[in-house]
Amino acid sequence: MAMLKGRRVVLGVTGSIAAYKSALIVRELVKAGADVRVVMTPGAREFITPLTLGTLSGHPVHSELTDDRKAGMWTDHVELGLWGDVVLVAPATAHTLAGMVEGRGDSLLLTVLLSAKCPVVVAPAMDRDMFTHPATTANLDTLRQRGVHVIDPDEGELASGLEGKGRLAEPERIRVELTAWFRTQSPLLGRRALVTAGPPHEPLDAVRFLGNRSTGRQGVAIAEELARRGMVVDLIAGPLSIEVEDHPGIHRVDVQTALEMDTAAQQALAQNAPDVIIGTAAVADVRPAHPIEGKAAKSDLPHAVDLVANPDILAGLNAAAPESCLKIGFALAHDDGTEAALRKLTAKQCDLIVLNSLADKGAGFGHKTNQVRFVHGPDRIDSFDLKSKEAVATDLADVIQSRLLQSNGPS
Ligand SMILES: Cc1cc2nc3c(=O)[nH]c(=O)nc-3n(C[C@H](O)[C@H](O)[C@H](O)COP(=O)(O)O)c2cc1C
Repeated sequence: MAMLKGRRVVLGVTGSIAAYKSALIVRELVKAGADVRVVMTPGAREFITPLTLGTLSGHPVHSELTDDRKAGMWTDHVELGLWGDVVLVAPATAHTLAGMVEGRGDSLLLTVLLSAKCPVVVAPAMDRDMFTHPATTANLDTLRQRGVHVIDPDEGELASGLEGKGRLAEPERIRVELTAWFRTQSPLLGRRALVTAGPPHEPLDAVRFLGNRSTGRQGVAIAEELARRGMVVDLIAGPLSIEVEDHPGIHRVDVQTALEMDTAAQQALAQNAPDVIIGTAAVADVRPAHPIEGKAAKSDLPHAVDLVANPDILAGLNAAAPESCLKIGFALAHDDGTEAALRKLTAKQCDLIVLNSLADKGAGFGHKTNQVRFVHGPDRIDSFDLKSKEAVATDLADVIQSRLLQSNGPS
């Protein structure tokens, strides 16, 4: 059940007599914690009303490419396709399956399917002879080859009065198969990560602090990507300037200072034995030695501030973690930075340093993009182009995934 919690499901409903069962499918998915948006073909509306599915899903139902009631408005099929973690077409008619194979765009649902970047699952429903027709068999084969997962129909009595295969799988089986399928799509299921992100704030007094320009975007993108791959992520976050996806796999602990971050991270390490530690937080090296209590008046502000060193959080975590744990650090350079990254690799006992440099336009703090090098050692440095921080997170997650699956075998 937990696999579906927080998953975004676009449910496509088509013009089959079994469309009435889509109400139960919505209920099963919503009960399991999924966020469901329904797209109906015009044919489906002959069998069940948008009001029913809208009420059960808690969201307006989309059906037409353009909205006649609002002149000049159209339904954003691209947005819907990109929103979903999966598009589930249930029931899927022979007509819509053929449209998917041909890449037709003559219903909103078909255009959503053409735009979708996420995986697609179909649950066919039709009369026995339609299901066993060579055209339908060939269409389902083609869809399978393209990576579409097919939930086979049941055998039994059909609406036509015939007996045979073609009955839409029961809503409960659809939910169970979808859950199992999500599991196979989550290669890092059950593995744990510890990610530090953001800039700790070191108080000068109750309102003033020493900090830096880090937003936490890169660390958050990594936490989100790992959670999407099935990991449970302890995200120890300094004050962030961005939102974090509300994903059940992300356990967020908010902290203010480096000392608090250190304590929270060490606690998560001891309690949860992560498979990988990723230190992305831009931890201040120093903090004011004697923060002033309350808000200091302007006239009481000191002319000089004594500073003391903060703990090296990542080095401390890596020293305490077992050898089997993968240890990844981030380094921000203002020049080439390779030499410093190699030194950090050894000094902090890291397996990998992700190096970004202020010398590269669009890289580092404050940007939505980053340009990184993965420094594995003097003989292996992988350079990447400038890309979004989400894409950098995907590259790093690929490395983490292959290292974890290599060292421990698949979970
Ligand atoms: C009463 C009735 C029941 C139907 N049941 C099915 C069905 O179970 N499976 C199917 O593939 N087509 C069925 N059809 C035919 C589809 O509604 C028709 O092919 C339609 O064009 C499908 O369009 P859509 O895929 O865009 O919803 C049925 C038609 C009627 C009138």
